[in-house]
Parts: sequence; structure tokens; C-alpha cells
Amino acid sequence: MTIRLNTDNLKGYVEQKDLEVLASEVQEAARALEQGTGTGSDYAGWLHLPSSIQESFLDELVSLGEEVRAHSDCLISIGIGGSYLGIRSTLEFLRGEAKIPVRFAGHNMNADYLAALLDSVKDQDISVVVISKSGTTTEPALAFRIIKEFLEKKYNADELRKRIICVTDQAKGALRKIADQNGYRSFVIPDNVGGRFSVLTPVGLVPLAIAGIDVKALVKGAREGEKEYGKDSNIAYDYAASRYQLFWEGRVIEVLASFYDNMLYVNEWWKQLYGESEGKEGKGIFPASLILSTDLHSMGQLLQDGVRNMFETFVQIETQKQRIVIPRDDQDLDQLNCVAGKDLDFVNKQGYKATAAAHFEGDVPNMTISLDKADAEHLGQLYYFFEKAVAISGYLLGVNPFDQPGVEAYKKKMFELIGKK
Ligand code: PA5
Repeated sequence: MTIRLNTDNLKGYVEQKDLEVLASEVQEAARALEQGTGTGSDYAGWLHLPSSIQESFLDELVSLGEEVRAHSDCLISIGIGGSYLGIRSTLEFLRGEAKIPVRFAGHNMNADYLAALLDSVKDQDISVVVISKSGTTTEPALAFRIIKEFLEKKYNADELRKRIICVTDQAKGALRKIADQNGYRSFVIPDNVGGRFSVLTPVGLVPLAIAGIDVKALVKGAREGEKEYGKDSNIAYDYAASRYQLFWEGRVIEVLASFYDNMLYVNEWWKQLYGESEGKEGKGIFPASLILSTDLHSMGQLLQDGVRNMFETFVQIETQKQRIVIPRDDQDLDQLNCVAGKDLDFVNKQGYKATAAAHFEGDVPNMTISLDKADAEHLGQLYYFFEKAVAISGYLLGVNPFDQPGVEAYKKKMFELIGKK
């Protein structure tokens, strides 16, 4: 199992000679990352995280999942940003694999959303995982406060201790105190892994294991990524170097596009990873995303013909789990008997090839990341691929890829408005 990168449609924009020129900078970035001498290296704990996860911990998570599912009709996962997106992207990508419905809260402050969620689960047995590294983020803290009150009306204190699980810092923050004071089970988020890199820490693994996702396969894929993208020359470095070259050619927007709709939330996870890691000091590629062919019928015009300030990265999934054969129609009014008897995915793939070629001809350089299939192992490797590439890319840009000082600005103003000290 491995992920492939095709850069044929970068011809004329990123040439082999450009990559050769950048090779020493890439190697230097990789060395700084590995040796912990680069900026922000205190937060490079994700680098060797996959290989450091103990099998006994994964066994513990699998047992936890079995236990919680036995007394729950649904799971509510509370969190935002890095404490939300990796969980959602994994569940959406592995559509149909969760053994229990998972609902999300704490990623917005919409009263109607939360009221509808609570109404829809009022007659169900519920368990909750509340995730916050800082333990003080307003959105999940508010959601937890409201959901805890809702649960307290339904269950006694013993029952609550079975049903509330906290994932947070080992010692700091309000959520740690709440967990300790109430005797809720808790899992620790390592200090040296930032939110957007945390999908393979308890942040992602605890709710995913409760959902019944194969967390062992996810970690296995990430371990393969750790090995593969630790080599001196690898596609994560090629991806990072290519996007860096494109950035300096004025391609300031990257569109992550996929013809597979289960990529929707992987796109969202990727946007946080790339936006927060690179977008600082007046630099950074704007990460945008599309699901095709849906968005070809809304954004296709701009891609083909608008301002030429973007490049595109397709994510292709080579095999589908299901086969749908296109039926023959005697009248053939839509003139689609040309594909009768073929698999629907065959046409989807031609859609991808046509789009990549048309956009390239329309002056949108593009590359393609291919996965053999949409399973947990491939996703684990894909997560690690993107993490490794963005760390290199951040160092190439000369920024700290592991901090996010800009996220604080809105919080300060909001705290003033709500009177929070
Ligand atoms: O990148 C980040 O660290 C942030 O965007 C966080 O992911 C987000 O704010 C959630 O933080 P926490 O887990 O501390 O509640």
C-alpha cells in the first residue's frame, strides 16, 4: 500500500531542474525537523508519533469502544479545530464503517444547531467525548456546559461517570479540573503535538475507537507514512517543494480537489493544517477545496477561465467498494449508451482525466495524489503525508509551521464583548 504523486501537469511550471535547485533547502528543512533545531520544534511531537504508539494502548481503546457502545445509542463528540476536524474527516472518509452514530458539537455556537441535535437524541442513550487541548476554548466549553446540564437531567452521577470522557492536557486547563473533580475518565493530549497535528493522539483515537473505527489500521498506515516520508527523497518532499515553487510564481491559492465526496472533510482537515501552518508573516498559500464533479458545475468556470493565481491538487481514489453498472436504454435520448455496461466509476475517472487536462491547458498547473482505496490504512498514510509535507513547506517559507498566533485576535475581541476576563 502506498500513495502516489503524479506531477506531469506541472510541466512548464515546476521542472526537474527547479526541484534540484530546491533539494538542498528541502534536505536542510528535513534535517532541522528531525534534529529538533527548526523553529517551533517543541511542537514536532507528531513526527515520530505513529511509531511510538503502544499496541497495549490501541488494545485499551478497542476495549473502551466496545464498552461504551454497549450502553450507548449515539456518541456526541465535542471539540473545534484540531479537536474536531480529524475525527470528522476520518468518519466521513470511512463512510459506513462507524458502528454507532457520531454527532458533533462545540464546533460552532449556533443555537438552532445545538437545540436540534439535543432534540434528536433526547430519547437515546448518549455518551460524550469532550476534547480540548487547552481546555479553555469557548465554543466546546459552552457546548459541554449545555450538554452536561442536559445529561444531568437524564442520568445520575455514577451513570455520568460512565458516559463522559475527557481528552485534554495532563495538568492544565478547565477541562482537566472538571474531569478530576467529577471523576470522569480522561485521556492525555501530549504537550508536544499541536491541535492540527493531533488526529493520531487521543484527540482522534479515543472518539474514533468508540465509534468502532479500525484505529489499528489508521495507525498502521501512519507508521508506513512515517517510514516512507522519512526517506531522503520522497513524494512528501516533492509535493512541498513543488507548491513552494508555484507560490513564488504567483500561485497563491491551492485547490485540493477530489472526484470522491467522502474527501469533503479530509479537505476541511487539510485546510486547517495548511492554513494555520503556513499563513503567517504575510506569507502562505490559501488552501481552498472542491468536490467534483459537483463543484465543476459551480466553480468550473472560475477554475478554467478566471484569475490565473491558483494551482490544483487532485486526490484520486483508484477503487470504489461498490460497482454500479450503467444500464442500456433502448431510446438513448440522453445519448449515453456509449457507456452502457460500464461501471459508473469508469466515467468518474474519465471526468477526472478530462478536468486535469482542461485545467492544465487553461493555465492551471495541477498534480495528483492517488490512493488505491478509501480505507483506514490509506487515510493514516495520507494524514502523515500531508503533515510531513506542511512541516517542510513551512520551513521552506521561513515560518514557524507549528504555532498559530493569529487565531488569538478574534478571541481577545470576543472576550471583551462577552465580559470574559
Ligand atoms: O490549531 C489549533 O491549535 C486550534 O485551531 C485548535 O485546534 C482549536 O482552537 C481547538 O483547540 P483546543 O483543542 O485547545 O480546544
